[in-house]
Amino acid sequence: MLTLSRTVYISEARTTLSPEAVTALAAKSAAKNRLIAVSGLLLHSQGNFMQCLEGEPRAVELIYHAISEDTRHHRIVRLVDEPTSARLFPNWSMGVLNLDSESFRLDRQCLLDIIAGARGIGARARPATVIQLLREFRSQLPAPAHTPVHPLALRQA
Ligand SMILES: Cc1cc2nc3c(=O)[nH]c(=O)nc-3n(C[C@H](O)[C@H](O)[C@H](O)COP(=O)(O)O)c2cc1C
Repeated sequence: MLTLSRTVYISEARTTLSPEAVTALAAKSAAKNRLIAVSGLLLHSQGNFMQCLEGEPRAVELIYHAISEDTRHHRIVRLVDEPTSARLFPNWSMGVLNLDSESFRLDRQCLLDIIAGARGIGARARPATVIQLLREFRSQLPAPAHTPVHPLALRQA
C-alpha cells in the first residue's frame, strides 16, 4: 500500500552556511522530524542543498511547507513528490552528507548535473534518476546514532 509520501527538492543557501551550521540545522531538523515520524537525507555542496523527506503525507507536507518558507535558502525546486510504500531512509530522522569532500567527487558531479537540469541549464533528470542517486548516497551514510524513526518504518525500500 502506498501510504507514505516522498518529496525531494533542491535549493540554494542565501548566505554562506558553514558545514558546522548545516550539521546543527540537520540535528535540529532531525529532532523535529522524529516527533512526526518523518525521515530523510540532506545533501549539501557549495551552498546547494538537496533534501529527501519521507513519511505520512500530511507530516511531509507540514515540514516541506515550513522549509519552503525558511529565509536561509531560496530557489527551491521540487523534483520528486510521490507516494511510496517504503522509506529509503528509515533509520534517519535527517541524515546529512557534506559532498565537498574528495570521497564524493563523482556523486557530487551527479548532484550538480541534476541541479543544473532543474534550473533549465541542462537535461532535466527524471525522478527515477534522482531516487537512484539517493540510493547511492544511502550506502555512504555512517551508521545512525539513534533508533529508527518509527517501528513501521523499518522496512526499507
Ligand atoms: C535546507 C534546509 C533544510 C531543513 N530541513 C528541515 C527538516 O527536515 N525538518 C524541520 O523540521 N526543519 C527543517 N528545516 C528548518 C525549517 O525550515 C524551519 O526553520 C523549522 O521547521 C522551524 O522550526 P521552529 O519553528 O521550531 O523553529 C530546514 C531548513 C533548511 C534551510
